[in-house]
Amino acid sequence: MESTQLASASANMKLPAILGSLQSDGHTVSISNDNVEADISLSDVGAELLGQVLHKCDGKTAFGAIMDSVPEVSRTRIHEALSALVDTGLMIDRAPPEARTGLDVLLEIEDLTNRLLYETLYKNVFWQNCKAATSHEDMPRNVMYGLVIENYHLLFRESYFDAPVLSYVGNTKARLAMNAFFAEENGHDELLLKSLNHIGLSRDELFDSRPLPQTMALINALAYWAHNDPIFFFTTLGVLEGKDIQEDSFIAAAERIGMDDDFVKPVKTHSNLNLGGQHGNLTRQIFQNMPVIDDETIRRLRAQTYLFIELYDAFFRGIWEHYSVADKLLRPTATL
Ligand SMILES: [Fe+2]
Ligand SMILES: [Fe+2]
Repeated sequence: MESTQLASASANMKLPAILGSLQSDGHTVSISNDNVEADISLSDVGAELLGQVLHKCDGKTAFGAIMDSVPEVSRTRIHEALSALVDTGLMIDRAPPEARTGLDVLLEIEDLTNRLLYETLYKNVFWQNCKAATSHEDMPRNVMYGLVIENYHLLFRESYFDAPVLSYVGNTKARLAMNAFFAEENGHDELLLKSLNHIGLSRDELFDSRPLPQTMALINALAYWAHNDPIFFFTTLGVLEGKDIQEDSFIAAAERIGMDDDFVKPVKTHSNLNLGGQHGNLTRQIFQNMPVIDDETIRRLRAQTYLFIELYDAFFRGIWEHYSVADKLLRPTATL
């Protein structure tokens, strides 16, 4: 890990700086600091020229300008030598790390997220059938109930993943936005409970039942990210609360295939609360207030987006795969 970081830092060296004192008398070159002392030589570069180069490594002179002042020396050769010095702790690159604004980064992550959603989730068996359904033959009643049951399990545990970021000290505006969001969001499971009560499922029965493994995987992953990588967690909120494309398609399907009004209404109310409260914009609001995000974090956000969308896709596919064949709606824990 350490050598990789050093290699990538030195590969883009911009403002090299000696860490220690440099002695160069035209015949030998050496650098020493509290930890290391080393004589430096390059087989194809004389000590005098090497000394000239190293004298200019003051953390203020750009690598390009240093090399322009000694055109007779190979740029690649010196770069290799300076990189080796970085590895031994005798040199650092004083250039500030590359970074971009929060909003700029988020727009890139949103593009990636949308591409992955279109390639996977929007094409999965649940949403394909939901969008095309005209009757219960296309979209079994239990699958419709299943979506609300699993969403209930998710919302019932929303504090698992929202709570860790309520105390996020990295950015005050982000923390305040998260707190306001949680105040609106808390208790939304009660809305879905109304739908489920209508089909004969009680609060106690739901409490004594277990979510699908795919649902719990999503919940646990979100809780892990909220604890360990809050910035990535913030990117997921926009998708989960989103533009409510999924919920709208679900409600449209429910109305088209003639689901009971008392079952659909609370789900619709929840969807409208998300829209009215502009919950889909929360992520943008948070990232607008992040002045800079460094390159390493950007790479991490990109990498984890793939896993998050896979988990979200699996959540909906899991609902279809289980509820389209299960003979019972709940998986009780009381009988275990
Ligand atoms: Fe909600
Ligand atoms: Fe919401």
